[in-house]
Amino acid sequence: MEPIVSASILNCDFGNLESELKKAERAGVDWFHMDIIDGHFAPNLSFGPGIVSLCDEISDLPLDTHLMISNPDDFIEAFANAGSDFISVHIEGNPNIHRTLQFINSMGKRAGIVVNPGTPVETVYDVLHMVSHVLVMTVNPGFGGQKFIPETLIKIEKLSAEIKDRGLDVKIEVDGGINRETAKKTVNSGANILVAGTYIFSNKIGIKEAVRSLKGL
Ligand code: DX5
Ligand code: ZN
Repeated sequence: MEPIVSASILNCDFGNLESELKKAERAGVDWFHMDIIDGHFAPNLSFGPGIVSLCDEISDLPLDTHLMISNPDDFIEAFANAGSDFISVHIEGNPNIHRTLQFINSMGKRAGIVVNPGTPVETVYDVLHMVSHVLVMTVNPGFGGQKFIPETLIKIEKLSAEIKDRGLDVKIEVDGGINRETAKKTVNSGANILVAGTYIFSNKIGIKEAVRSLKGL
């Protein structure tokens, strides 16, 4: 099956947000990925619910919100109301992750759990039944344009085997340094949702060709 392509707007041209989103839509992206960074949980500052609701007005595609913030529970409602369809939270630094996921599900949103490159993937196994997807970070969170970390492939393979063994309907999303080559590797390891920012919005081959190549067409 063709992977889902979720376009990260982190480094798009915010001065022309509407035309950036429309261009990506025409090129065939499936979702838009919203990177929310607070300068505490991860370095860098990005944007808040205001931009998410602007994207929701501009596009009918699903909005895939990735919270890289401390105390995510304080902001889940705001991002849900802004029009997020998926809300993903990190396992790191959250002693009450079960409650956080319950809260996202109770808002009628699809929950995702995120695991950083330095965190064992087994840490998410006890909440797998509560999520629609696991986001395996393939770079350290914070910035677009970083290099894919190849050691994360083994994590994707392990997770894919665990999901199959338990017969769960959980997808695997990858995020960071995804391009034609790394997309292929992650899909072969079991990924089915590809987040890409730089490769979609600032490449030499054009946005259409970038999306086609991510989908393996
Ligand atoms: C990193 C973000 C990513 C990032 C991906 O913290 O979670 O979504 O925007 O950007 P690229 O595709 O440029 O690596
Ligand atoms: Zn992200």
